[in-house]
Amino acid sequence: MAFFKSVAAISRLRSRVDLFSELKEIVPEHQERVKKLKKEYGNAELGKITADMGIRFRGMTIPDCQKTLPGAFPGGEPLPEAVLWLLLTGKIPSKEQVDSLAQELRSRATIPDYAYKAIDALPVSAHAMTQFTTGVMALQVQSEFQKAYEGGIAKARYWEPTYEDSLNLIARLPSIAAYIYRRKYKDGKIIPMDDSLDYGANYAHMLGFDDPEMLEFMRLYISIHSDHEGGNVSSHTAHLVASPLSDPYLAFAAALNGLAGPLHGLANQEVLRWIRSIVAEFGTPDISTEQLSDYIHKTLNSGQVVPGYGHGVLRKTDPRYTCQREFALKHLPNDPLFQLVSKIKEVVPPILTKLGKVKNPWPNVDAHSGVLLNYYGLTEESYYTVLFGVSRSIGVGPQLIWDRALGLALERPKSVTLEKLEALCGKSS
Ligand code: MLT
Repeated sequence: MAFFKSVAAISRLRSRVDLFSELKEIVPEHQERVKKLKKEYGNAELGKITADMGIRFRGMTIPDCQKTLPGAFPGGEPLPEAVLWLLLTGKIPSKEQVDSLAQELRSRATIPDYAYKAIDALPVSAHAMTQFTTGVMALQVQSEFQKAYEGGIAKARYWEPTYEDSLNLIARLPSIAAYIYRRKYKDGKIIPMDDSLDYGANYAHMLGFDDPEMLEFMRLYISIHSDHEGGNVSSHTAHLVASPLSDPYLAFAAALNGLAGPLHGLANQEVLRWIRSIVAEFGTPDISTEQLSDYIHKTLNSGQVVPGYGHGVLRKTDPRYTCQREFALKHLPNDPLFQLVSKIKEVVPPILTKLGKVKNPWPNVDAHSGVLLNYYGLTEESYYTVLFGVSRSIGVGPQLIWDRALGLALERPKSVTLEKLEALCGKSS
């Protein structure tokens, strides 16, 4: 069977620095822990969990990750491969382990011709996210999980082909995503992967960007967009769709469709459009606080939201905004759009607070990313959600592997009619 053959082939390449072996060692221990938890506390109500503490990657803050995870060079931004290792194993990888994972991902990044053809069947005008989901669905043809399931693999081993699919998917997404960019906005020519580059840098390179600062920004971008608990729409969708044992490609394509909504990943596109609309209104980004305040009120009075402000669970400035701001302060402090973004951060929160309608008036991750990408020449904002999608695979992949390793159940929330809900509420009040 192809799955077992490919696993055997990959095993031959493995050394003590490889991710699969590391995982194979820790999966049984976690399976035992979950079994024990279910047995002892299966009926316990745990109460309300809040996320006021901010964003953590396996308990580490973004500054922790920046300090601790290996970068492309000493003091560099965390490599996405390092984040993947951390999310999957809970351990901080060495530079040697990260380099070996980068090499493994490059070796998995072969794209079947029919995936490009499936994208080509769509008009170039199709939204970049529509093209992206189509490419992912075409890759599904090679699902190792599907093959292994049809071949009768034991439940306890589901996580192994899920690992293969997730790593293949993560490895192949930048090539698919870059193809869409070149096709939709440039000359359509594929820029091949560079075997000397890491994951984030290679993606930027295949898009057509080789400025070392842009490569470094892409490493940071991918790392910080990889995950945000399991509850956001894209991660939760992937978990839900995979719960009836749909393979990682099916689950991730569904996640991308959730990410494509303006209240989720499409917001980064909306933010840059809004910032550009300010510049168009005044003919310059260099505007006064009063002018900006008037424009914000105009936006709100027309019934729109200020894109990039507020968040489903965060109640303070998104730490992903802060680290992008620090990057901009270091590399492009005089960029006029960056200065406008800084001014927006001063003016929007007091206005939203005064209106009293929002729980969180502070900027989120999307409020900043567009101006950085725009500065480095990636100006086509309708592509931005694809970048987010590639990044999110680094968080979704480990989640799906652990879902199968721990044998998590099919997700089936209760559904009640409005009448039943009214009756229940009436009773409890
Ligand atoms: C995300 O990264 O998915 C966003 O912060 C949205 C969310 O967490 O709901």
